[in-house]
Amino acid sequence: MAKSFLSIEQLTQRYPDGQGGEFTVFENANFGIEKGEFVCILGHSGCGKSTIMNILAGLADPTSGVVKMDGQHVSGPSLDRGVVFQNYSLLPWLTALKNVTFGVQARFPDWDKSKVIEHSTAFLEKVGLTGDTIHRKPSQLSGGMRQRVSIARAFANEPKLLLLDEPFGALDALTRGTIQDELIKVWSDTDQTVFMITHDIDEAILLADRILLMTNGPMAQVAESVEITIPRPRKRTDIVDHPNYYAIRNHLVQFLGQRSAELAGQSDTPPLAQPKTVRIDLTEDIDAEDPEPATPQLRAVEA
Ligand SMILES: Nc1ncnc2c1ncn2[C@@H]1O[C@H](COP(=O)(O)OP(=O)(O)O)[C@@H](O)[C@H]1O
Ligand SMILES: [Mg+2]
Repeated sequence: MAKSFLSIEQLTQRYPDGQGGEFTVFENANFGIEKGEFVCILGHSGCGKSTIMNILAGLADPTSGVVKMDGQHVSGPSLDRGVVFQNYSLLPWLTALKNVTFGVQARFPDWDKSKVIEHSTAFLEKVGLTGDTIHRKPSQLSGGMRQRVSIARAFANEPKLLLLDEPFGALDALTRGTIQDELIKVWSDTDQTVFMITHDIDEAILLADRILLMTNGPMAQVAESVEITIPRPRKRTDIVDHPNYYAIRNHLVQFLGQRSAELAGQSDTPPLAQPKTVRIDLTEDIDAEDPEPATPQLRAVEA
């Protein structure tokens, strides 16, 4: 099998348990992400999602295992990988625009000042920030605006991989909806590869090409890779009418509500080579000449 753009191989993380021993967050995790994909990871709090992301970002070292991007080992932070956290992490003494130009200037040192500003302004505009707003400091912006700046800043640097750790967790539902749309728009325009943590099932279905499902920790596993068989562009008001929507949603709810716990902590099971690929597509039945009377088929295909 051809190597993925991003490949996570035999990744293991252990931490001291505070009582002289150690506990295993996850062991021998394996998965890949293709170039241009939008992948979400879902799992209960504490299963190790942020730990995985920090390793991908190069902000933490795993106990063992490797991460390769474009065939190169990931070690230490790099401008090739952009990160957006839940609580914005903007530089408070700089305006919105300067928070973006700061990174762009570092990323593209050959660009003159006007090109840096033009590029940065364009990305702020993509997330709905224009006019005077971009000259305000973070303390003068709402939470939603600050998170828009964070997203603009990350995309404007044109990293090969964008990592988002529950970026909308602190936002109200309406703002979250708008920024989700903006995120998808920027992603579609740029074809960047996105890896996003969320605990919001509907957000994951709306945004992702594929959802990775993690079992509960300790000894969490990336157990499944669920394909989102709903064509793009997706509108939040329309996707609920797609025949696959509730079938996929039910599968995810079922996993998080029950199987994530049942499958957890099974240290005696052999590590999964890759998460199991799950493809749910009821439209295949609808198009069939002589459809079987409906018990929906959930197709689970070994990768
Ligand atoms: N630096 C650390 N030292 C010790 N334990 C940690 C550290 N970072 C995370 N953990 C533990 O590892 C587990 C996974 O944490 P985390 O990756 O933040 O989970 P998630 O993002 O899925 O909620 C948790 O039990 C957490 O307490
Ligand atoms: Mg987390």
